[in-house]
Amino acid sequence: MEDDQRLGQFIRDRKVIVCVGSGGVGKTTVSAVVALHAAVLGRKVLVLTIDPARRLANSLGVEALDNEERQIPLAAFEEAGLAPTGELWAMMLDMKRSFDRLVERYSPNAEVRQSIYDNRLYKYFSTSLAGTQEYSAMERLHELYEEGNYDLIVLDTPPTVHALDFLDAPKRMAEAVESSALQWLYKPSLAARKFGFGLFNIGTSYVLKTLTKFTGAEMLDELSKFLFSFQHLFDGFQSRARRVREILGGPECAFFIVTSPDPMTVDEARFFQNRLMDEAIPFAGFIVNRVHEPYLPREALEVTSAEVGAQIRAKVADITPEAAEALGEALLTNAIEFQILADLDAQTLKALRERSGQKTLIRHIPYFSRDIHSFEGLNWVRQELFGP
Ligand SMILES: Nc1ncnc2c1ncn2[C@@H]1O[C@H](COP(=O)(O)OP(=O)(O)OP(=O)(O)O)[C@@H](O)[C@H]1O
Ligand SMILES: [Mg+2]
Repeated sequence: MEDDQRLGQFIRDRKVIVCVGSGGVGKTTVSAVVALHAAVLGRKVLVLTIDPARRLANSLGVEALDNEERQIPLAAFEEAGLAPTGELWAMMLDMKRSFDRLVERYSPNAEVRQSIYDNRLYKYFSTSLAGTQEYSAMERLHELYEEGNYDLIVLDTPPTVHALDFLDAPKRMAEAVESSALQWLYKPSLAARKFGFGLFNIGTSYVLKTLTKFTGAEMLDELSKFLFSFQHLFDGFQSRARRVREILGGPECAFFIVTSPDPMTVDEARFFQNRLMDEAIPFAGFIVNRVHEPYLPREALEVTSAEVGAQIRAKVADITPEAAEALGEALLTNAIEFQILADLDAQTLKALRERSGQKTLIRHIPYFSRDIHSFEGLNWVRQELFGP
């Protein structure tokens, strides 16, 4: 089977598709395109995006940061010349709101809930703690998956330096929560007794970083209150983290690694692939985005700038011979440089193919001259990935 058909097969039969990759490679764009294609194929699909570019958010109808699932109106498809038989839903993940939901769901009563919301440390933790965004995504995935309202959930991932931090987030959170250093902080009296040296037991630097923002007594008070109220939420932590891990490692899930054709990013992508395999996570394939494709036959570049200048003069009235030749030279240089980039990208793709084996699914998306912020743009990418 050809790679585009294999890719289509994943979109047809999986329940969860995750797009991972280094920062800025096109994860959010690819997630939206995969979801669009699933809807075209007749599935009811939800794309869970993270910080989409503003105009893309507009196209997807998720400009509001409210963690609500929204259906993309049929008119948007029709404008792009599509008649989907499924449904496309989108949601923008807002980590602060996700944490609030967690508090809402798992607080034993209104009082605890309020005390958490009011806590200054909570405000800090729920927005800036390393890993909370990843963790929120996981919590939300868990919730949506268990609700079972969609045939497919496409999960975009946050722009982390190491794309797979995301995989470790639930485990790391659970570990941090269960670590003895934090356990003693739950109990205010014990915390007070241990204060002198206890802080040094906290190996996790994010805690220390947070602590330095407060003065001693104030901080301790706030922290113990926070942890005391928060422990209710931590109860189910481990089991949920385990369940998410099961979903991600299961046969209903597929991971796509999105990468640019830059050799260093490709190396990183291969590193991710190995990690996924080590962790028995179902790796589905590479999507190489923003590939420069030659748009002129090579012979077309074997001209002089004077010849290009002459062609310009034949087409443009009122241009001096000097200006035409200067323009011709600039155009030619640009075309030659583009060809060099295209050659480099072709080499990188070839090397990736050789190193990862014939069986590995690799699809690429050209570098478009415009950002892909509209439904129409998503459809161009869709056609590149899945065929017209
Ligand atoms: N093939 C392409 N051609 C041209 N522009 C593209 C292409 N793919 C993505 N873009 C543009 O590049 C920008 C970054 O893409 P995107 O937001 O999907 O990346 P990301 O991996 O989600 O980034 P982050 O890691 O910051 O979340 C967007 O403005 C998008 O429209
Ligand atoms: Mg993104």
